[in-house]
Amino acid sequence: MNKSLTLTVPDDWHLHLRDGAMLHAVAAHSAGFGRAIIMPNLVPPVVTGAQAAAYRDRILAALPPGARLQPQMTLYLTDSTDPADVVAAHQAGLIRAVKLYPAGATTNSASGVTDFDRVRPVLEAMAQAGIPLCVHGEVTDPAVDIFDREAVFIDRVLDPIRRATPGLRVVMEHITTAEGVAYARSGGGDLGATITTHHLVINRNAILAGGIRPHYYCLPVAKRETHRLALRQAATSGEARFFLGTDSAPHPDSAKLQPCGCAGCFTAPNTMSILAQVFEDDGALDRLEAFTSLNGAAFYGLPPNAGKIRLTRRDTPAEYPAQITAGDETVTVFDPGFPLYWHQEDV
Ligand code: NCD
Ligand code: ZN
Repeated sequence: MNKSLTLTVPDDWHLHLRDGAMLHAVAAHSAGFGRAIIMPNLVPPVVTGAQAAAYRDRILAALPPGARLQPQMTLYLTDSTDPADVVAAHQAGLIRAVKLYPAGATTNSASGVTDFDRVRPVLEAMAQAGIPLCVHGEVTDPAVDIFDREAVFIDRVLDPIRRATPGLRVVMEHITTAEGVAYARSGGGDLGATITTHHLVINRNAILAGGIRPHYYCLPVAKRETHRLALRQAATSGEARFFLGTDSAPHPDSAKLQPCGCAGCFTAPNTMSILAQVFEDDGALDRLEAFTSLNGAAFYGLPPNAGKIRLTRRDTPAEYPAQITAGDETVTVFDPGFPLYWHQEDV
């Protein structure tokens, strides 16, 4: 028997669309979302309102006709970001949020923050103006084990920043640990957390057991099973602080399949089918809409999208390509490791 579910059009509160040929190849795969927070880690990064506006125009030009997606732009916080520029870009409607990458934490983060004291004036101006800070929450200290970097970041950096900047609205991006879930729960309405599709599906064994699998390598790196289960519980709880940010992060296969391969999972094409299966498996289909379509909008102070989508569970799996092409390159689509019976349709 087919089972059917009607949902408010979902949003993606953490998305990498890249630029150039890659942007043109991947944009259509996110076109069915209502809004997406667009990550600014281009080379060079998006650091001014004018750059954000120009990037937004390139995204709109790359979307197929009839696309729903309204890109929500972000600025990349650096040690030398001017507080007045950030506030002006926000007031002009050019940006929705600011992104904090600790320098060196992940792909294209070399220009990120090296000294949190130097960005204090920006954070204070953002708190005053109500501009959310999206945080990549990993320390870069080489002495800290990569599987501990999120938990250590919360203690060493995030909690001190939040205590020093009352009123700052913070999104803990792509949380991967039980500690991340617990810290998100310890905050009030000024603290939210995004969870990716892939971190609900894989634990660290997927990357390493039985051979090394670069397409499951992303940052923050997937953790052990107890953490995945904590994320599943958080995402399916319906709690307002948890919402979808896919962190769909396409890289050419030629850059992933290397002795030193890039971090990122490309989940845009099949995210909604995967999430429907995850929520069905956890007996939480009635809370899928909160996670994908309601909680994030409420955090950002926006109304839910007007349109609806339908997800239908059919007897035959939905077909997704194993790879897409981007210029001369291929990009591998995330394989959840189970068949996807949930099909997405517009209503
Ligand atoms: C992202 C990317 O490729 O830009 N990679 C990833 O593994 N998630 C950067 C990021 O969000 O950390
Ligand atoms: Zn990301």
